[in-house]
Amino acid sequence: MAIRFGILTVSTTCFICPEKDRTGPELEACIQSAFPDCQIVFRKIVSDVRADIRQVLIDFTDAGTCDVIFTAGGTGFALSDVTPEATKDVIEKEAPGLTYAILAKSLGITEMAMLSRATAGIRKQTIILNFPGSVKASIESFNIVKPTFFHAVALLR
Ligand code: MTE
Repeated sequence: MAIRFGILTVSTTCFICPEKDRTGPELEACIQSAFPDCQIVFRKIVSDVRADIRQVLIDFTDAGTCDVIFTAGGTGFALSDVTPEATKDVIEKEAPGLTYAILAKSLGITEMAMLSRATAGIRKQTIILNFPGSVKASIESFNIVKPTFFHAVALLR
């Protein structure tokens, strides 16, 4: 089964200056190596603007083109961090097990993991999962959930 992934970097800095986005490309490389048959449907950058994040998530879920969308960034405590709120705006079902697993295992790596407010859920047939924005944190998070994704996507098809 070829899983179709979307990658959305959420960062006003990277939106203005796309070459500063290291997380999007690194995450794409990790996904490709974990799922060699996968399709990367899109890799985009959006500012920390709730309506803009929401719009990208809606566009790529309602078109039925992605099985999974990973967002990276905007999950912390800063006033500008609104990725979880934008995600909650669009999901139809919550998927707390994904974020619980990431938090539980990440706390074994760094206590800073408790500063992520990442959320996860399902809209139509697409899983949306927030990762923190650093390369390190996003790759650690991806590695925690990746063993479950063949089964998770199969359940939604
Ligand atoms: N989770 C893991 N696995 N590894 C990390 O290094 N960094 C934390 C946390 N989650 C981290 C992590 C830090 S320092 C922050 S501030 C929050 O994620 C939020 O990051 P964000 O605002 O870039 O989304």
